[in-house]
Amino acid sequence: MKAVDHNFAEVELPKPSPSGHDLLVRVTAVSVNPVDYKQRKQATGSRILGWDAAGTVEAVGDEVTLFQPGDQVYYAGDVTRPGCNSEFHLVDERIVGRKPSSLGFAEAAALPLTSITAWEAFFDRMKVQGGRRMLIINGAGGVGSIGIQLARHAGLNVIATASRPESIAWVKSLGADDVVDHRKPLPAQVKPVDYVANFSGDLDSYWEAMTEIVAPQGALVAIVGNTKPLAMETVRAKSATLCWELMFTRPRFKTPDMIEQHKLLNQVADLVDAGKLRSTLKERLSPINGANLQKAHAKVESGTMIGKLVLTGW
Ligand SMILES: NC(=O)c1ccc[n+]([C@@H]2O[C@H](COP(=O)([O-])OP(=O)(O)OC[C@H]3O[C@@H](n4cnc5c(N)ncnc54)[C@H](OP(=O)(O)O)[C@@H]3O)[C@@H](O)[C@H]2O)c1
Repeated sequence: MKAVDHNFAEVELPKPSPSGHDLLVRVTAVSVNPVDYKQRKQATGSRILGWDAAGTVEAVGDEVTLFQPGDQVYYAGDVTRPGCNSEFHLVDERIVGRKPSSLGFAEAAALPLTSITAWEAFFDRMKVQGGRRMLIINGAGGVGSIGIQLARHAGLNVIATASRPESIAWVKSLGADDVVDHRKPLPAQVKPVDYVANFSGDLDSYWEAMTEIVAPQGALVAIVGNTKPLAMETVRAKSATLCWELMFTRPRFKTPDMIEQHKLLNQVADLVDAGKLRSTLKERLSPINGANLQKAHAKVESGTMIGKLVLTGW
């Protein structure tokens, strides 16, 4: 089978066969996320990257109960295993959802990794309640683009940050109630909110503003780590909750509840098919090959991506 390794070299690999809970998926579309370039920079030997895919189940392992050959699926996968930048890919059924039937493979591949992140952040970690206010830092990125929609669907009033005319227009089109500029001090632009979701790749620079903006007894979530110590006094004084979200935690540690990712991806598919959420696909490249994956990495790494970039076909 064809695959593209972390050096963007096109390689021929043996087609794997599934066992246990694994599905063998024929991959039709993949999306690129910041995790791809972060993993690329740490990779040694030959590593297959890619943690967002849509495709069709080709074969199933002996313990599989949720899917059968021919099912159309979408999923992010497990960063501790080879990624999906290959014609065929093994993935545990418990972290795979049914592809929204109203979407093509490209539109579906835009969604899994970022939907899992925003869903787990809001519903599993922060336990948000409707009728309250949330600030989303980096509204136009991959996570923010589905996060705005999920937060609005949960009944929250959403203030999103964006800094360019095109990213401001995008977050408004996704349903943000207000837009503020993350290139200017945020506390001057935002009154205290119950929830602050930092969906940017920078926790250190926003930490002070996050703790100032969160309301007493509110909650904060971060999706990247800090590189400097975080001052906790304001959070403590406000009895605020600091949550961490890493969407690879469940697959990486094979937590007993890892099937929650299967369930949430199916719920996202239902919401898409009911017209309540839309795909965040913004840019496409075809086919899936070394040159196009290199272009996609460069675009995502530039920090200017709006919504998601998807590659299709082999
Ligand atoms: N923990 C997890 O499970 C998890 C999951 C997914 C992603 N992540 C991490 O979360 C980060 C965001 O990922 P993503 O895929 O959503 O990002 P992305 O799509 O690459 O975000 C691109 C957007 O970032 C905005 N941006 C650039 N610099 C910014 C800054 N200093 N402050 C705020 N926004 C800024 C830009 O918007 P403007 O043009 O409006 O400035 C741009 O449109 C990455 O570091 C990624 O690795 C973590």
